Amino acid sequence: MSHSSNHSSDTSRGAIAAAFREKFGRAPAVVARAPGRIEFIGNHTDYNGGTVLGAAIDRGVWVALAPANTGVRRFASEQMPGVVEQPAGALARLSGPAAWVNYPLGVLAALPEFGLGVPEGFDFLATSDLPSGAGLSSSAAIELASALAFLAVTGQSPSRETVVKAGRYAENHFVGVPCGILDQGVSGFGRKDHLVFIDCRGPRFDTVPMPAGAQFWIFNTHTKHALVDGLYAARHHECMEAAQALGVGLLVEAEPAMLEAAKAKLAPAIYKRAKHIIDEIARVDATVLALRAGDLATVGKNLTASHRSSQLLFENSTAELDFLVDTLTARPHVYGARLTGGGFGGAVMALTSEQFSADDAAQVAAAYAKKFGATPDILHTQTGDGAALLS
Ligand code: GLA
Repeated sequence: MSHSSNHSSDTSRGAIAAAFREKFGRAPAVVARAPGRIEFIGNHTDYNGGTVLGAAIDRGVWVALAPANTGVRRFASEQMPGVVEQPAGALARLSGPAAWVNYPLGVLAALPEFGLGVPEGFDFLATSDLPSGAGLSSSAAIELASALAFLAVTGQSPSRETVVKAGRYAENHFVGVPCGILDQGVSGFGRKDHLVFIDCRGPRFDTVPMPAGAQFWIFNTHTKHALVDGLYAARHHECMEAAQALGVGLLVEAEPAMLEAAKAKLAPAIYKRAKHIIDEIARVDATVLALRAGDLATVGKNLTASHRSSQLLFENSTAELDFLVDTLTARPHVYGARLTGGGFGGAVMALTSEQFSADDAAQVAAAYAKKFGATPDILHTQTGDGAALLS
């Protein structure tokens, strides 16, 4: 079990610049960093035009970049072996161990779609202190850090909203995941001690102060996070089917009464998916009010209700995630717990009071290990600031 209660990372501008020099024999021109995110509440609401709350966390991805007039793009990652070389202008999707390069490549493909230029040859180094596959959106973090670095070396400074949209475009059109704006939006608009609120129809971005005393604990099960394997796309498809059957463009426009009136003509699974989305959007809005009132007990109840809805209606939970939520919510000092991210494995987030200790977390992990024979990673994380250039 790797446990970090008070996260301290030696990743800094200096550390990545040194690693860059070692790899490429010269200094980077720019360094950018973008955080991972917790989906706080609003599960699969984003691509349905709904509302969602997320938190940028204090871990993320750094990208160091230096232009080169070689006509070659060299990509390296401290987490992956080797250097991936691509001729400038080549934008074919890569597979195998080089597949991580699809995120910066996707951004290079996306920026021109927003009227922005891209650098030709360059050397690129990424490093991360964000566990991947944990539902913390390392992919959005590398997209945003890459975008800020590419824009900086080409002297462009579009709006933050454009950067966020370009990151999503990369994910949708290059990586091939039909995600909404949540991950990139939170990584882009994160703010320490705040949650990011997104009304995905605009999209419109806002921040809501996080009441003092609330703590985030993430339990990463390391079970399969099957986003790219089609389950996420299948849910996306079912939601669009539900919207069409209800005669609306997106489920955000459907009233609960419309859904009940159409229940008989909907396949049971489609009804359940739509009910989850409609209820979940209402829960997000109720949670914003509870946050503004400092009512963490109500916030926590909404979080757990969101999980139950994922479990029973959206059916994107797993036995492992359910067990963690059951175990956590049975303990004192836990306001609420839910799966965070796309689902089908990944991680559970608990919102706790300051009395919840590393010992409490270890007991939850031990109960999980006894049942499933594997120990989840525990991450005690703080909110953090959004994507930024460090130089
Ligand atoms: C993934 C996607 C997001 C969002 C969540 C589920 O994290 O990338 O856009 O749809 O799943 O809420």
